Amino acid sequence: MRSHYCGNITEAQLDTAVSVCGWVHNRRDHGGVIFIDLRDRSGIVQIVIDPDTPESFATAERVRGEYVLRASGRVRCRPEGTANPDMPTGKVEVLIKDLEVLNTAATPPFQLDEHHVHEDTRLKFRYIDLRTERMQRNLVLRAQVSRVLRDYLDGNGFLDIETPMLTKATPEGARDYLVPSRTHPGRFFALPQSPQLFKQLLMMSGFDRYYQIVRCFRDEDLRADRQPEFTQLDVEMSFVDERDIMQLMEAMIRSVFDTVLDVSLPDPFPRLSYGDAMQHYGTDCPDLRNPLRLIELGDIMAAVEFKVFAGPANRLEGRVAALRAPGGGRLTRKQIDDYAEFVTIYGAKGLAYIKVNEIGAGREGLQSPILKFLPDEVIDAIMDRTDAAAGDLIFFGADDAVVVNHALGALRDKLALDLGLLEEGWRPLWVVDFPMFGSSAEGHGWEALHHPFTAPSVDHGALVADPGAALSRAYDMVLNGSEIGGGSIRIHNPEMQSTVFGLLGIGPDEARDKFGFLLDALQYGCPPHGGISFGLDRLVMLIAGEHSIRDVIPFPKTQTASCLMTAAPTTVDEVQLREIGIRLRRSEQPEK
Ligand code: AMO
Ligand code: AMP
Repeated sequence: MRSHYCGNITEAQLDTAVSVCGWVHNRRDHGGVIFIDLRDRSGIVQIVIDPDTPESFATAERVRGEYVLRASGRVRCRPEGTANPDMPTGKVEVLIKDLEVLNTAATPPFQLDEHHVHEDTRLKFRYIDLRTERMQRNLVLRAQVSRVLRDYLDGNGFLDIETPMLTKATPEGARDYLVPSRTHPGRFFALPQSPQLFKQLLMMSGFDRYYQIVRCFRDEDLRADRQPEFTQLDVEMSFVDERDIMQLMEAMIRSVFDTVLDVSLPDPFPRLSYGDAMQHYGTDCPDLRNPLRLIELGDIMAAVEFKVFAGPANRLEGRVAALRAPGGGRLTRKQIDDYAEFVTIYGAKGLAYIKVNEIGAGREGLQSPILKFLPDEVIDAIMDRTDAAAGDLIFFGADDAVVVNHALGALRDKLALDLGLLEEGWRPLWVVDFPMFGSSAEGHGWEALHHPFTAPSVDHGALVADPGAALSRAYDMVLNGSEIGGGSIRIHNPEMQSTVFGLLGIGPDEARDKFGFLLDALQYGCPPHGGISFGLDRLVMLIAGEHSIRDVIPFPKTQTASCLMTAAPTTVDEVQLREIGIRLRRSEQPEK
């Protein structure tokens, strides 16, 4: 139907006949001449219809926004002074001979160039929202990123292998999406939270290097960087250690940035232990563009009379830390109160602060409600330890370390944004040396910090003797404060796997019931192996400069895991329910 894409018409086509197809981006009637910006995936070209072609002119008079047209004519230079340097096609226009309306369009619910369209409206009319330049750019970028990833992996001997969607629960820490079986009433498939076990089995089957760009399903509380279904670039390799995997994977990410953004990422990526990450940043996915650091004050506060600080300073699980905001002295009382309110979201009970007006003048140069509780030498030590300068504001967190890290970690991000401290650019890193286990949420027993198939970095005896002290062979890739990938070397020995299940409170019967196939497979010659998985949506979101993964997913779900366009999830009729052997409880009957 066409000879060229709209966005590709330039001076190279001058004086030639072309046919273009697309949507009416806008139409301007200049009394006697009609200009239409015609849009397709490649961009926009200006077409001109004048009364010398009466039939086409009559057609042009009745077209409206988003009508679908086919237009043929000759490319010519725009007249002196009317060129548009902001458009790739801005120097030319097409003088139309034949104009055909391929389809009409109802008035769209919003204009494509309208700012601040409510996200619900965008999601309800997603097929229109996807026409916007921003969404077109984001999805083109996404395809490009996938292409580079595939090229890299294909070039490095990885095989693209599929794994099932209808399967059995894989524990990645979220709730499963369940699918009832019609042929086995009362039984359910789980949609995969990740292909974790299948990719390990593929290693046992000898495929050596596997990858897949694959949908994963997790029923969890959603945030800007989480969706109930999301896409992983999933990778697994045999006969490797963590160094091999990390080298290959960071080279892959470097290749993406190099190809897509023409940005050179550091080689190698810096590495940070989990312990150091928590200590300096309060989080295991620190944004290294942010220069602020948490500063340990426990030793200084151990002997003060101020119980708010001395208490946590003397408790094993407690922490007292400071966060110095350079130039924070200009914050108003109201702003400081707002920060105190902000940290309560993270469980903090207060947010003590000291405003530094002058250095070297002792307490006279400072301003704070807590000065009266602290002796001179402690105040001096704080100023010293935090490297405080005149004009700074020092915030304090004192509580269980979990709370302090959470609260000051979040405050660190917020302050950097508010005070404009974030550096430009890309700061990837690896976080390593994670503990094997954390205390379980219920407060008894252990919980896997990654997943139960992650190998410990200690031997069997040491693991059993002190599970809480054992580190794992896991690694996370973090970019600008976002965890974009995570993986580990796996357990490849059935005894170790059973021991880890045991420590996680999964007894032998339950282990057999849930993971019998894995325990069996481990006995038939399992190679040492490991892998990683990247959140493709998050990676593309960062590269696109977006703040929500919904903006790089064509048809995403809302925060409450529903689709505003199709209205899924929907009710189903009684016949369908009966077929799969399900009866709804009265309290769960959906409203008609
Ligand atoms: P993990 O659970 O860390 O590891 O997931 C890997 C990466 O997937 C992304 N991600 C998500 N993205 C969007 N929405 C979600 N709900 C969501 N959950 C996770 C993150 C994360 O880093 N099987 C292991 C990997 C392995 O060990 O090889 C796994 O799934 O960017
Ligand atoms: P209080 O004596 O409880 O009024 O607290 C005095 C100051 O300490 C106030 O500025 C509080 O915000 C702050 N504060 C109270 N509890 C904590 C805490 N757990 N961590 C940090 N600051 C706190």
